[in-house]
Amino acid sequence: TWTPDAFVETTVTELKRKIGQDKVILGLSGGVDSTVAAILLHKAIGKHLHCIFVNNGLLRKNEFEDVLHQYKDMGLNVKGVDASARFLDALAGESDPEKKRKAIGRVFIEVFDDESHLVEDAKWLAQGTIYPDVIESVSATGGPSATIKSHHNVGGLPDFMKLNVVEPLRMLFKDEVRRVGASMGIDKTLLGRHPFPGPGLAIRILGDITPEKVAILQEVDAIFINGLKEWGLYDKVWQAGAMLLPVNSVGVMGDERTYEKCVALRAVESTDGMTADWVNLPYEFLQKTSNDIINKVKGVNRVVYDISSKPPATIEWE
Ligand code: XMP
Repeated sequence: TWTPDAFVETTVTELKRKIGQDKVILGLSGGVDSTVAAILLHKAIGKHLHCIFVNNGLLRKNEFEDVLHQYKDMGLNVKGVDASARFLDALAGESDPEKKRKAIGRVFIEVFDDESHLVEDAKWLAQGTIYPDVIESVSATGGPSATIKSHHNVGGLPDFMKLNVVEPLRMLFKDEVRRVGASMGIDKTLLGRHPFPGPGLAIRILGDITPEKVAILQEVDAIFINGLKEWGLYDKVWQAGAMLLPVNSVGVMGDERTYEKCVALRAVESTDGMTADWVNLPYEFLQKTSNDIINKVKGVNRVVYDISSKPPATIEWE
């Protein structure tokens, strides 16, 4: 029978044998898969594993700093690369969802290629690919590996893609990855994190992206997600987030009429992201969250809750 402990033991032995003294590069995304893959490799080859964690400027509020600290605390050899400006420049004025995804994928590859050139004599590229990624084209798990996979047709292979690929989680399902992570002592809060798409908040800001819109959505998202945690609801939800709609609506503030933005909150139950049901969150929670958002986030005067299931409504709005 399969056990996480036995998997860790055999995989670490196998990785040691396969990689020896070579250097390995791995893109960390903050998600479960890349983190578990990194810790497994770290156990096998220690400092020969060079992790790269890119801030695309589209992460959740404080996520880059928080997750980078967590990685360092776990002993990983990780370099945080803040490329926010490069991503936001490439996205400026673009409102088409697929073109936004392509722009993000392209910049990610450029940044990752630049960074991987700094690791001299690297021989391997490690990826947190899991079994569902192997059989599906769009990964529900997000992260650099998904981004790289869906963009390797962008004019010539970047150098890091010519490296030998090592994918220690390729035979595992998500729940098995979590169990492997837990058996290696990875923090529960990290293992329980909701999936987050590789393009991040870019596909939750409908229409074109500006730094102001990113900042507004980060605040809204933080209030929603922290609220779910405070109310003990976070672990009951498979994925949650907020969408910034390209709609202004009229409101009143004191004696004045306002004309400000609307956000939609979305929380779904799912097992694999292929189908999903909206979650019946308590009215009291929605009421409190809506008030908090409208009172605290300047520029937002209306909050709606998405009660659509997938299919046909996808989890993301773009
Ligand atoms: P949809 O919106 O298609 O999302 O119902 C299903 C799952 O996939 C995630 N998602 C993405 N992940 N790059 C990713 O890495 C993407 O472009 C992307 N689009 C959607 C979404 O967050 C959900 O978990």
